[in-house]
Amino acid sequence: MISQISSFEQYQEAYNQSVTDPEGFWAEVAQNFQWRKPWKKTLEWDFATANTKWFVGGKMNITENALDRHLATRGDQAAIIWESNDPEEESITLTYKMLHQKVCQFANVLKKHGAKKGDRICIYMPMIPELAIAVLACARIGAIHSVVFGGFSAQSIADRINDAQCNIVITSDGSFRGNKEIALKSTVDDALVQCSSVQKVIVSTRTRTPVSMIKGRDVWWENEVKTVSSDCPAEEMDAEDMLFILYTSGSTGKPKGVVHTCGGYMVYATYTFANVFQYQPEQVHFCTADIGWITGHSYIVYGPLCQGATTLIFEGIPTYPDAGRFWDVIDKHKVDILYTAPTAIRSLMSFGNQFVENKDLSSLKTLGSVGEPINEEAWHWYDENIGKGKCPIVDTWWQTETGGIMISPIAGVTKTKPAYATLPLPGVQPILVDEQGNEILGNGVSGNLCIKFPWPGIIRTTYGDHERCIQTYFSTYKNLYFTGDGCMRDEDGYYRITGRVDDVMNVSGHRIGTAEVENAINMHLGVIESAVVGYPHDIKGQGIYAYVICDSQMEDQALIRKDILATVTRLIGPIAKPDKIQFVSGLPKTRSGKIMRRILRKVAEGETSNIGDTSTLLDPLVVEEIIGGAL
Ligand code: WTA
Repeated sequence: MISQISSFEQYQEAYNQSVTDPEGFWAEVAQNFQWRKPWKKTLEWDFATANTKWFVGGKMNITENALDRHLATRGDQAAIIWESNDPEEESITLTYKMLHQKVCQFANVLKKHGAKKGDRICIYMPMIPELAIAVLACARIGAIHSVVFGGFSAQSIADRINDAQCNIVITSDGSFRGNKEIALKSTVDDALVQCSSVQKVIVSTRTRTPVSMIKGRDVWWENEVKTVSSDCPAEEMDAEDMLFILYTSGSTGKPKGVVHTCGGYMVYATYTFANVFQYQPEQVHFCTADIGWITGHSYIVYGPLCQGATTLIFEGIPTYPDAGRFWDVIDKHKVDILYTAPTAIRSLMSFGNQFVENKDLSSLKTLGSVGEPINEEAWHWYDENIGKGKCPIVDTWWQTETGGIMISPIAGVTKTKPAYATLPLPGVQPILVDEQGNEILGNGVSGNLCIKFPWPGIIRTTYGDHERCIQTYFSTYKNLYFTGDGCMRDEDGYYRITGRVDDVMNVSGHRIGTAEVENAINMHLGVIESAVVGYPHDIKGQGIYAYVICDSQMEDQALIRKDILATVTRLIGPIAKPDKIQFVSGLPKTRSGKIMRRILRKVAEGETSNIGDTSTLLDPLVVEEIIGGAL
């Protein structure tokens, strides 16, 4: 197991070593895992070509580290505790032995249906144990999983399946979320009309709603596992073989498939899990993210299981049956670590304290926050009402592309400060740069956040388009990985991430590109053009504000508004629906035709006077109209 940093002096020592001798530092950490063959070279890298390789030549399988190696020491310990959406339904505990068996069994089902090393498999499932089993079964046989969040539309699934040319889809009949029942299989069916690469669909049962099963293509999970053996030796993987693809939004175009590889990702997710949360044996770790996002990959599945932890999977939502559900789950399962998003905290805060006051939260030791900046008010509420002033809060900054936590306090070790992600973890070398890429030195400064040296969890490529990876992350500033985030470093050298500086919004902790939403809105028949920006939202962090130019013949605005929302839901999913739609007759454009989003952002923020320079606009008058009609 990975040894943990237990004092600030140890942190400083580890940090210094990780900078002066990064290879030695990470080689030592990587020794704590099971390798079939040792690596020959610890690191090879070149940011100019977006080429990073860790543990070169090393052979392993992440599931041997997440499952097999724990069987002798903690085979009967809970690996997964599952809590249903319905508080009345019995929870499920899978010990390491049981999980190992189920993963091997399902891996054999995949093999039986022709899956092999290197194949891409799409997973679109609710938060049930089978989701984690499916993910691990892919890894077991060396197939590359591409988990698509259960809230995405058929079109989004089709785009992702086609981009990666997946040959198998794993899904469920449906899912339960609060008092809603959501059809998943039928959404997959709609997607597959466009996907010729898919040969097989494996369907697990959850809601028992009727589904249409296509002969020769669709099979039931329940039936399939009955016919296979539960012995499935793990495929030997190269450290740099792909482990998974996870699609994420950027400034332009369709979401890109961020690729992580086996060895470096395993080492990084586990190291950060063990250290940031200071996980102790037998503790229960509750990460409330969905496995469809990177936080679920790294801190529900891989990080905790590789460290031999007990990880809790919760199917439901924080407000069902009422706003006390998280606290009930914590009490029921004696949760030690809670890792959630500021949006959830703000939302629960808004219900008032009566849902928390009578709950027993005494099992909690550490609280985590992730996905978006946490405001001071939410930080204090979390600290006082949930942590009762005795649990360190780790505000963890990282991204899909970083594979694991990058800047964060280490629980109980780093002195925290409200709304600050504080200090870089060992192995992480942040730098702030100005627009020209000059390093901003010293403290009490702000700039664009970049990382100047590779860490084991760094993105390896964007699937099928390496050039896009170079362009997106390694071209803005020479020899630096650019995060897309703005950041300040205060007098103590503490980092505070202020939000995206590119055209990516962060809505309830979900990354959504403005261009993606615009493209969806523009697909609607009556729409001529649109521009989308984020604006501050009390609960969601950011809301989506759309300025839309409509065909003059469309007169019923209320109806078009509804139609636009339906179009966005159909093309992306409900998470991308604009909160506000303002109909305008023109957009503020420069003479070269570029939309000046700066102005639109200001108006969306409620600014009416300090709009800034509009002299370069083609038609400065549109600005007045836009301000006049602001919502
Ligand atoms: C934002 C989620 C402030 C940031 C793990 C980043 C944060 C984007 C924090 C990545 C934080 C994440 N404080 N902002 N603690 N954590 N972000 O890829 O803008 O879904 O670039 O990964 O979320 O979102 P992603």
